[in-house]
Amino acid sequence: MLLQHQTWPEVESYLKQCQGIIVPIGSTEQHGLNGLIGTDSIVAETIAQEAGIRAHAMVAPTISVGMAEHHMAFKGSMTLRADTLGALLEDYISSLVRHGFTHLYFINGHGGNVRILSAVLKAKNNDMTATTCKFLNWWMGRRTKTIREELYGPDEGMHATPSEISITWHAHSEQIRAPVQNYNSKKCIERWRNAEHYRELYPDGCIGSDPSLATKEAGAKLLDASAADVAEDFIVFLSS
Ligand code: NI
Repeated sequence: MLLQHQTWPEVESYLKQCQGIIVPIGSTEQHGLNGLIGTDSIVAETIAQEAGIRAHAMVAPTISVGMAEHHMAFKGSMTLRADTLGALLEDYISSLVRHGFTHLYFINGHGGNVRILSAVLKAKNNDMTATTCKFLNWWMGRRTKTIREELYGPDEGMHATPSEISITWHAHSEQIRAPVQNYNSKKCIERWRNAEHYRELYPDGCIGSDPSLATKEAGAKLLDASAADVAEDFIVFLSS
């Protein structure tokens, strides 16, 4: 149930039954040689929509651009500054709260958002209003972690993972790219100083992952597991 596909009277009647909403947040950044630039946003949005169906929950418009400064040496990546993302989150939250949403559940698709997302939500949770916020990194759900491990083990890596690319291919099978053998087999994670240094260290954009293993069939399994994780956690969150 997408907020943007409702009418205002429909939102009003939803709010009489439920004051919770799921908010997908991702990023628009390079995902290696065969992963889509929108991977993190597509994954967060796809999981949010499926979890929303299972939990009968409203889903807010996706925050599609996040903090991705370190990917900016690869074409097509986009980034917000920390202050911009913080202000955007605050405005999203206050808009929803004004209508009576009290339980805001963010499903996050990008590690680079975590610092600002957790700071904004923590401040909101401490401000003595009736609003409660939480976020889950989609890859950390109980069922999801198990399936990622079973499917890909050490080839999952840290960026442009076969799991996330599989979910995008399941969601948008018209966008599947042929498997490309990545030329960066580096498994040892070295910290970068800036975007250019990141590209020197990880020339194909991946960190420790083998995205040539992505399939849409794996994506269907991962979506099923992650939507179950989110729906279950959201229902518990509603009663908090
Ligand atoms: Ni990603």
